Order: sequence, then C-alpha cells, then structure tokens
Amino acid sequence: MKKVITYGTFDLLHYGHILLLQRAKELGDHLTVALSTDGFNDIKGKHAYFSYEKRKMMLEAIKYVDTVIPERNWEQKKHDIVDYDIDIFVMGDDWRGKFDELSAHCEVIYLERTPDISTTSIKDNLSGIS
Ligand code: CTP
Repeated sequence: MKKVITYGTFDLLHYGHILLLQRAKELGDHLTVALSTDGFNDIKGKHAYFSYEKRKMMLEAIKYVDTVIPERNWEQKKHDIVDYDIDIFVMGDDWRGKFDELSAHCEVIYLERTPDISTTSIKDNLSGIS
C-alpha cells in the first residue's frame, strides 16, 4: 500500500484545498493530512478562523482523506514520514524546494496550486463586504 502525506492549515475550506487533496490521494492508496494545530499557527503568526477541531472534522468528511493527525511543530515532518511509513510527501508548489531534504526519507512532490483562490483571498474579499 502506497502512503501519502500532506500538511496545511486548511482554514475556510475551499476548492483549491479539495483539488490538492484529490490529486494527493491519486498518487497512492492512503492519504494522511497533518493539520496545523492552533498552537502551531500561533508559532507561525497565523490565525485560523475555524478551530483545529472544526477544521479536522471537515477534513475527515472528505472522501480523499483517510487520516488526520495534528502538526505541532516544524521538526515533526521527518518523524511522521518514518513513524507512519510514508512513501510520498506532497505539498502545493508555493512550498517548492522548501522540503527537499525530506527526499532522504520518501518521494517529495510539489503539486501546482489551483489559481485564484486562497484562505487569505477569501478573508480579504469578505472583509470588504458588510
Ligand atoms: N493549495 C492549493 N491551491 C490553492 C490553495 C492552497 O493547492 N489555491 C494547497 C497549498 O499549496 C497547501 C494546501 O493546499 O499544500 C493547504 O494550504 P493552506 O496554506 O492551508 O491554504 P491557503 O488557501 O494557501 O491558505 P493561506 O491563504 O492562509 O496561505
């Protein structure tokens, strides 16, 4: 069984997220999503609109997602890859080159981002609407 892992915050779930998860799952048989905890978002200086528990619940309802685990710190990725016996690490290409060192442990693939949609753009657009 080929196991795939991807990481992210997945706040205000949108079609760019769904397409990323669909393509990640197509690369193997089992998809784990490591979801940024609220504490890790604090470290990154990022504030999610939905709590970790709500973001996790929505991801678990997606048919491409098999398992959701918490991502608590930057150092975790290489341990997850070994502990969960991961074959392929996938991220959107906004992260291209950033995780190449993980190729010592598994295949590293950057997928093209879906154009014209992000959590940030949704927040920015809605903040202008009353
Ligand atoms: N992603 C994507 N296409 C988009 C938006 C996100 O493929 N249009 C991918 C990212 O590259 C990442 C995953 O979805 O691999 C989770 O991204 P995340 O940072 O949680 O979502 P963004 O919408 O990029 O959020 P933000 O605007 O806060 O950076």
